[in-house]
Amino acid sequence: MKLLKELFLEELADMYDAERRVVKALPKMAKAATCDKLKSALLAHLKETEGHVLKLEQVFASFDEKARGTTCKVTVGLLEEGDELAGDFKGSPAINAALISAAQKVEHHEMAAYGCLHEWAGLLGNEAAAVLLEEILGEEKAANETLIKLALASSNKEALGESDEKESEEVPGKSPDNLRRGMRPTGSSRARIGSLSR
Ligand SMILES: [Fe+2]
Repeated sequence: MKLLKELFLEELADMYDAERRVVKALPKMAKAATCDKLKSALLAHLKETEGHVLKLEQVFASFDEKARGTTCKVTVGLLEEGDELAGDFKGSPAINAALISAAQKVEHHEMAAYGCLHEWAGLLGNEAAAVLLEEILGEEKAANETLIKLALASSNKEALGESDEKESEEVPGKSPDNLRRGMRPTGSSRARIGSLSR
């Protein structure tokens, strides 16, 4: 009979696969972004995500299990949709809002999964695993918050088509603030978008 430990290990394998897919997708999402702050946020989360892969290997080891991944269909689907969205909005002022929405969907899935895994590790009496999973959960939540802040600060307004020119007309003589300036599309980053998924 399959019990909580088997459920935990199945979900852990799902997330091990998910994180490795996200490691491959994040550089492509960062390349597709035309907002410097969004690029930085995605690349910072790439470093954290590489750490998540290592932490998950430690969690497997804490259960005397070898790290293994099983195809995470949710992540495959979310990354495919994100890829499509990035292609659809390439060159549009809405590209950064589109990328943020795609990234937030990935984060929300991860937050749900790690919330369960953290709780289950505690119930299974594995404190070391619970601590590692809580650390990952905290970084996923923080990444999601960063994305929300970027959306609210600039990318949503940019997606509405509110240009810098319009802003400077409204406030004569006032130069755009740093965040707004950071959201300007940069020519070099409009390079062709590759596949975000595997
Ligand atoms: Fe994440």
